[in-house]
Amino acid sequence: MNKAVRKAIIAGNWKMNKTRPEAKELIEAIKPLVANAEGKVEVITCVPFTNLETAVAATAGSNIKVGAENVHFAKSGAFTGEISADMLVEVGVEYVVIGHSERRQYFGETDETVNKRTAAALAAGLKPIVCVGELKWERECNITEEVIARQIKLDLWEVSKEDVKKVVIAYEPVWAIGTGLTATPDQAQEVCAFIRAQLAKLYDEETAQAVTIQYGGSMNAGNAAELLAKPDIDGGLIGGASLKAPDFNTIVQAAVEG
Ligand code: 13P
Repeated sequence: MNKAVRKAIIAGNWKMNKTRPEAKELIEAIKPLVANAEGKVEVITCVPFTNLETAVAATAGSNIKVGAENVHFAKSGAFTGEISADMLVEVGVEYVVIGHSERRQYFGETDETVNKRTAAALAAGLKPIVCVGELKWERECNITEEVIARQIKLDLWEVSKEDVKKVVIAYEPVWAIGTGLTATPDQAQEVCAFIRAQLAKLYDEETAQAVTIQYGGSMNAGNAAELLAKPDIDGGLIGGASLKAPDFNTIVQAAVEG
């Protein structure tokens, strides 16, 4: 099995951007541009909670899927400000970003809570996009592989072989996010291949070959094709460039062609 049989996935992570009218406008602009990706590349927009309903309505009947940017692990209860997996499913969401480095850095997410959120998402039928990545300091100290191996092991703890095939892993080096500093295609490939090797160790080779691994971190219209050409980079998780329809489309087209 190789890259050709894995699902290529380009996902926009809008982060805390766009009002509802702006969300509708952006999706309407993206829709016709990416229509040709159907059946070749999965296109996802991950939007703030307040935009989910708008996004689900705007993408209905199109090939664009909708994702949330976080999910809580409890079914319900006293968790002020949180949203459960069932609530997301009810709105029509299919994917959810879990463990983004901004959540880990600013909101106290740990591998343990990432793991619990991943399990809850899977149990509810959502497809998790689990983010991993090293800090600049960790790369400088030469412990990138240790950091990634630990995150993969803990974040996917007790996730079954069947379920892990529904998980998308996003490798996002923290130093490359929103900085304009992209990992070189070789650096990104090296870590994505390492992630696949860890999956093979934890599960088996066939399972590892089936999992989509994305790169994220200053991926843009100019550098996407080169990154996506790498054998273990199956897609992208796009921040800033996903907020501009032509740029996001250029990345989608690079995946369609790649
Ligand atoms: P940028 O593409 O803005 O660097 O953000 C990447 C990211 O964090 C996607 O989740």
